[in-house]
Amino acid sequence: MNLTELNKIAVAMVAPGKGILAADESSGTIKKRFDAIKVESTEENRRDYREMLFRSREAMSKYISGVILYDETIWQNAKDGTPLVKLIEQAGSIPGIKVDEGTQALPQCPGELVTVGLDKLAERLKKYYERGARFAKWRAVIDIGSGIPTMTAISVNAHALARYAALCQAAQIVPIVEPEVLMDGDHDIDRCYDVTQRVLNKTFQELRVQRVELEGMVLKPNMAISGKKCAKQASVAEVAEKTVRMLKACVPAAVPGIAFLSGGQSDEEATAHLDAMNKIGGLPWKLTFSYGRALQAAPQKAWAGKSENVAAGQRAFAHRAHMNGLASKGAWESGLEKKAA
Ligand code: 13P
Repeated sequence: MNLTELNKIAVAMVAPGKGILAADESSGTIKKRFDAIKVESTEENRRDYREMLFRSREAMSKYISGVILYDETIWQNAKDGTPLVKLIEQAGSIPGIKVDEGTQALPQCPGELVTVGLDKLAERLKKYYERGARFAKWRAVIDIGSGIPTMTAISVNAHALARYAALCQAAQIVPIVEPEVLMDGDHDIDRCYDVTQRVLNKTFQELRVQRVELEGMVLKPNMAISGKKCAKQASVAEVAEKTVRMLKACVPAAVPGIAFLSGGQSDEEATAHLDAMNKIGGLPWKLTFSYGRALQAAPQKAWAGKSENVAAGQRAFAHRAHMNGLASKGAWESGLEKKAA
């Protein structure tokens, strides 16, 4: 393993003003997104949609440090035959790949899941590296509910995350370590804080046990945030203050950067939260975005599957990427959203 090189990639992924586009929706998830805009989820439509994003010159070259791809996409070519991976590289962005194979029910733990995909991962990573991937992603899912999460679920998922991260580094690929605590429940922000803290502590314990080099990884956590169905929604200031406090307590300064998932927050909330954290300042790591929904909802709506809407889709994408790029520096203002509208 060449740690200097891994560190260089990790640092580039969280460069100030830039963040990551999570475009790694599985076939099931992209179908849900396409259903919402009444577009059929065919291989060609998925290709056209992602090609539109990766050809957004302004967004990609100025604000997007890296793109997480799904297996289908990394092997796809643009309409003119250029590999989609090349479009990303030509824009000065880094291709990455989702390598987990989804979740399965966890025995003895009703309602809980474990992420799978470790078998043959070493071989798959080799092929992805040859194709151009320089970082990867593995997502663990932890749900909050009555009596859950159990320590069993936290522990097996942290173990798998660390196994994955160690295999990535051995293959000269930067692992994005993503332990996602879902925001779907009716719990309040303090419960989210407690659970996320436990999950992060266990994850870093496993990363150390399995000798993962912290300088050569990126963490992708959820924020400390109220559950979507909670009657009392925490303010932007409270989310920012509690998330920063939680991360400072759990994430070693050796980690170059933290790139949040959006997890179902609205576009503007996801931007406002990131911005407020960076405005607090004095942080030991870079804080940026690795958003899926919060970057793509607007371009999906503007595009709606019609080739005549490609420019509008790209404009919508460039706007969200720009707003989040500013938030990664604590330089966003809500007035900038209104001006664009
Ligand atoms: P969201 O930002 O839509 O949560 O997606 C990010 C992601 O990659 C989840 O794994």
